[in-house]
Formats: sequence, C-alpha cells, structure tokens
Amino acid sequence: MDQLLVALDVDNAADARAMADRLRGTVGGFKIGNRLFTSEGPRVVEELTSRGDRVFLDLKFHDIPNTVAGAVTAATRLGVWMVNVHAAGGSTMMRAAREAAHDEAARRSKPAPLVIAVTMLTSLSAESLDEIGIGEAMTSQVGRLAALAQTSGLDGVVASPHEIDLIRRRCGANFAVVTPGIRGAADSKGDQSRTMTASEALAAGATYLVVGRPIIAAKDPRAAAARIAAECAH
Ligand code: C5P
Repeated sequence: MDQLLVALDVDNAADARAMADRLRGTVGGFKIGNRLFTSEGPRVVEELTSRGDRVFLDLKFHDIPNTVAGAVTAATRLGVWMVNVHAAGGSTMMRAAREAAHDEAARRSKPAPLVIAVTMLTSLSAESLDEIGIGEAMTSQVGRLAALAQTSGLDGVVASPHEIDLIRRRCGANFAVVTPGIRGAADSKGDQSRTMTASEALAAGATYLVVGRPIIAAKDPRAAAARIAAECAH
C-alpha cells in the first residue's frame, strides 16, 4: 500500500535493513528519524534509497535558513523522497529548504523530495504552549503554521489524525497531510493518546500514514502491514 510509511524506530542499521527487507513490497516507504539516524548516520539512508525504497527523512530541521538549506541539500543528495522541517523556523527558512531541495534535485536530474513541515509537536499540551509563551489555542496555531508552510511553497505537513480536517479546510485538497498516531482497533495505544485507525485517518483526508510499533513490534511485521492495508481497502 503506497500510502503506508513504516517508522524504522530501531537502534541499528542491521535491524533497519532486516525490517525493510521483510516489509518491502507491502508498504509505500520507510521513515528514518532521529533515533536511527543519530545511531547510524546517513549510510543507512543511502542503503535504502539505493535499493529504490522511498525514504522519509524525519529529522525535523529547525535552524537558520542557510543551515537548513545545507541540510536539505545533503538529504536530497542521499536520494530521500521526503524530508521535514519545523514550520516555527519561519517562512524564510521554509522557502530556503524548498529551494535547496529543488536546486539540488535539478543538479542531479532527479525529482525533488517532498518538503513538509511539522506544525506543533503533538506531545505539546495547552500548558506547554503557555510555558513557551504561545498564548493561542493549539488548533489555531496548527492552522496558522500549516497555512504558512503552504504559502512558503512546502508540499504538506505532519499532523495528528485529529488535525487533518482543520488542515484540509485551511489548505485545500492538494496539500499533503502525513499522519502518525495510527493504531488498529485492537492495538495498544502506547504513548499515543489521540489515535485513529488507518482507514479512519484516510477517510478523514490523510495523504500518507506513518505507522511504527503496530508494525515493527508485531510478531509478523509483514502480516501486520498487510492487515492495515486490507483494512484500508474496505
Ligand atoms: O510507533 P508509532 O506508530 O507511535 O510511531 C509513530 C512515528 O511517528 C514515530 O516515529 C514518531 O516519532 C512519529 N511522530 C509522531 N507524532 C508526531 C510526529 C512524528 O508519533 N507528531
């Protein structure tokens, strides 16, 4: 299933490789985040991209525009399919990220990676917003940052299942919404408090689903991925 991205939240390249080998063909791509990247570095990314896997490099860049542009250029050189930045870095930073992706891809005669933004981390509560001096409600802040990402030329945002509708209404149909926090009806929620099933999230308008533990911690990850894909086909 093309829209299903699996979070390779493991500690080492051998485990990541083994998981990708088990899942290849049943899923649409793999997400490599801070945990695996910090342990193993860019080689694990290249290993997957050179096999033709779609890789979403989830390092949530947030720095001055010039530095983020350099990081996105490097990610594009690794052949990633999707990369993300924090919308809170502002429009100049987001434009620089997009331009870097397109310039480097053009130099290599390859399609540019999708550049998407994190609006507000879903781990933040109303109290955490207060703490960091954001006086607005979470939903208006998410809507504002999604719209800013769109006008800055980005391809989409990462959003919790419950924010999809808000973002669709604000940003329209042609803006990618990448949604983690997916659980099967019978799965444990783990530390994700506001979850939806995969088919609910797609029905709500998600473009891509990011699923970690329900697949990678399953006894049979390939069967778990196939089950989620089958649920969505109904
Ligand atoms: O294991 P689980 O399905 O909860 O994994 C979800 C993945 O999506 C993890 O890699 C997590 O870091 C990531 N993520 C998230 N919530 C966000 C952004 C990313 O759970 N708002």
